[in-house]
Amino acid sequence: MARREVIVLLFLIYAVALVSANKFTVGDEHGWNPNVNYTIWAEKHKPFYVGDWLVFYYQSGQADVIQVDEVGYNKCDASNPISNYSKGRSYAFQLNHTKNYYFICSYGYCYGGMKLAIKAQALPPPSPPPKAHKSDAFSIVRSSFVGSIAGAFGLVVAFWLF
Ligand SMILES: *[C@@H]1O[C@H](CO)[C@@H](O)[C@H](O)[C@H]1NC(C)=O
Ligand SMILES: *[C@@H]1O[C@H](CO)[C@@H](O)[C@H](O)[C@H]1NC(C)=O
Ligand SMILES: *[C@@H]1O[C@H](CO)[C@@H](O)[C@H](O)[C@H]1NC(C)=O
Repeated sequence: MARREVIVLLFLIYAVALVSANKFTVGDEHGWNPNVNYTIWAEKHKPFYVGDWLVFYYQSGQADVIQVDEVGYNKCDASNPISNYSKGRSYAFQLNHTKNYYFICSYGYCYGGMKLAIKAQALPPPSPPPKAHKSDAFSIVRSSFVGSIAGAFGLVVAFWLF
């Protein structure tokens, strides 16, 4: 490859790395279901960063996703929900803030472990570009303003050069 092609390629890779947020399927192939230990799942997939997505897949009508506080998480108590989702078969939740998130199922399975605690960390500094997470099977381009600008600029440069 010519040197300018390499430069463009590196730029594009860098732009994508800068703006990619990860999308995690909660429970991997098990989805959001009873008899899965989500403490182990979260341990395996951490760290989670602000902007990442959690996607819960569940059996319609058999489960819900209730965001609770730490007390609700520890007691499996869904009576003071922060958010409550049960429609359809899936729910995508974005970790918008640097804080601890807690989710439980209110159908009684929480006591058996159907509960998830996630610590969302601040994004690492952009330079050097953040490494992809351990589970980067589903990496999506974050729909941020910066992302759009960087992506558009990359495309323009690519078209201009080739
Ligand atoms: C969630 O919302 C639905 C509909 O508003 C309600 O019927 C259900 O009781 C709520 N569940 C919890 C755990 O708050
Ligand atoms: C996260 O932020 C996005 C964009 O501002 C918003 O649409 C979404 O509802 C927020 N998600 C949560 C779970 O608060
Ligand atoms: C899940 O695994 C963790 C770590 O091995 C363990 O401490 C916890 O008791 C397990 N939870 C359930 C509900 O079995």
